Amino acid sequence: MGRLEGKIALITGIGGGMGRDAARRFAAEGAKVVGCDINAETLDETVRIVREEGGEIAGFGDIDLTDPDVTERWVAEAADVYGGIDILYNNAGIQRFAPIDELTVADWELNLKGELSIVFYAVRAAWKHLAQRRGVIVNIGSIAGIRGVEFAPQNVHGSAKAGVINLTQHLAVEGGPLGIRAVCISPGFVVTPATKFLVDNPPPAVEATWGRIPLRRVGQTSDIVNAAVFLASDEASWITGINLVVDGGGSVIG
Ligand SMILES: NC(=O)c1ccc[n+]([C@@H]2O[C@H](COP(=O)([O-])OP(=O)(O)OC[C@H]3O[C@@H](n4cnc5c(N)ncnc54)[C@H](O)[C@@H]3O)[C@@H](O)[C@H]2O)c1
Repeated sequence: MGRLEGKIALITGIGGGMGRDAARRFAAEGAKVVGCDINAETLDETVRIVREEGGEIAGFGDIDLTDPDVTERWVAEAADVYGGIDILYNNAGIQRFAPIDELTVADWELNLKGELSIVFYAVRAAWKHLAQRRGVIVNIGSIAGIRGVEFAPQNVHGSAKAGVINLTQHLAVEGGPLGIRAVCISPGFVVTPATKFLVDNPPPAVEATWGRIPLRRVGQTSDIVNAAVFLASDEASWITGINLVVDGGGSVIG
């Protein structure tokens, strides 16, 4: 029996690195997955892979979660697919990286919307469904949300993810009496399509940061998804409000 047997899991951004891996692993652990992505092509590919592996999944492409009305409709339709929501896994996000004096106001606002508001919209839409089944919200933060980061200017990305980490705490407080848990996972550097350009051609400052990671390697999507499986499962039924940093120890070194 899988660790998520029978759970209905909505996962956002399943066309990408961590999202695709999450869809595969959650399905392999017995969850019924309902995924979405703004990119219909990569979403279809994930759906194909999960079904080939014997998993149960429904996929919705062309869903732009930065539009609250679109999110509202998607969550309502997604909840209908298998009859409820046990897990809302807010993985999708878009980032803008630029030095603070070069970051445009439009980029700042797009990033806040694409990383922080995106979580609010989905949670707001899913809340009543989660309350019906004592569900769990899994948010994705970042180590950039708990401290400064040396490589690549992450000013707005970090600010948005700090918001996600704090929002998780408030959701835990509001949701607790309803039986809703809310947790956040903050990854360090993970190899995904979004970061492949750095892996393929790392600037010296980036390599230096990796060299200081106590466990001496960068993250793989499975490192994050392993944590998500545990936190979304009933094994974590007395855990809420936490921000679990998964970064090979990179953020604890002085
Ligand atoms: N890769 C890392 O090193 C790292 C580190 C810390 C945090 N994170 C966070 O992990 C999460 C996943 O990152 P990833 O590296 O797998 O990224 P990714 O770009 O590989 O995947 C993100 C997915 O989200 C989708 N998406 C983006 N905007 C969307 C929107 N408006 N509506 C619907 N779908 C949308 C993309 O199409 C993509 O498939 C993100 O929240 C990211 O901020 C990543």
